[in-house]
Amino acid sequence: MWENFPLFPEAASTAASRVDRLFFFILIVCAFFTLLIFTLVFTFAIRYRRRSPSERPRPISGSLRLEIVWSLVPLAIAMVIFAWGSRLYVALARPPAEALHIFVVGKQWMWKFQHIEGQREINELHVPVGKPVRLTMSSEDVIHSLFVPAFRVKTDVLPGRYTRMWFEATKPGTYHLFCAEYCGTSHSEMRGRVVVMEPARFQEWLGGGRAGESLEARGAQLFAQLGCASCHEPAPGARGPSLVGLFGKTVELQGGGSVTADETYLRESIVNPQAKIVSGFQPIMPTYAGQVSEEGLLQLVVYIMSLEEKAARK
Ligand code: CUA
Repeated sequence: MWENFPLFPEAASTAASRVDRLFFFILIVCAFFTLLIFTLVFTFAIRYRRRSPSERPRPISGSLRLEIVWSLVPLAIAMVIFAWGSRLYVALARPPAEALHIFVVGKQWMWKFQHIEGQREINELHVPVGKPVRLTMSSEDVIHSLFVPAFRVKTDVLPGRYTRMWFEATKPGTYHLFCAEYCGTSHSEMRGRVVVMEPARFQEWLGGGRAGESLEARGAQLFAQLGCASCHEPAPGARGPSLVGLFGKTVELQGGGSVTADETYLRESIVNPQAKIVSGFQPIMPTYAGQVSEEGLLQLVVYIMSLEEKAARK
């Protein structure tokens, strides 16, 4: 209904109309009360003005009923906004399981995207129309924020951990992509475009010339190059815990407590292995911080995730 409203960016995702509806609801509530308050301020100022220097107003004793009404009505409206907003927030925070997985690294001042199949792009993101896309994002330096106005999605991209965001584009076309967090001199230059394509054309594009190796294959190479397998070989008595089937599982930690083996945990265990020691193992793993780039870390994480998939297939 608001698609053609001239002050608004195009609505090109499944979330867009939902976000807009909530936004306009809040806008209308605010506009209504602003008008009401201003009207009353002026009406009362004129109606109850002092008419002669000797005039003394009657004292006011207050009204409980009035106070209850003006407390409960705003409470009810605020609760509607809260419930509506949380439902939308939860929907936007949870990517559907079948979502296409794409990996993002932000750095001063560019966006790097890596597709599972191996395609890599800078300041440009190709996605298929009508399919949910999940972005796992990290930063090489400072805080950035990935913002696609036409999709009504924006999520901070932080150094040292992964954040995620998802969307489903509904219209083929080209849309703006911005960094929405001030990140230094060329912050305003840190932008690009999202190209939404028909699924068949997207598949063609994926298979195009620049593809190279898949993320998983690159991760496997790094894994071998860094000698990870010498400790993490899934064998009894190995120095490190087995990584097969690890992703998504709950890991018991030394000294009690547990953690879910998600992307953030895997990444942390590579750059800061001492942070969480798996129960039954010694804190002997050296850090790989500085030896592996943010993109390399993503490749390793994807490789470890794929070990899970292979285990599940058996
Ligand atoms: Cu990156 Cu602003």
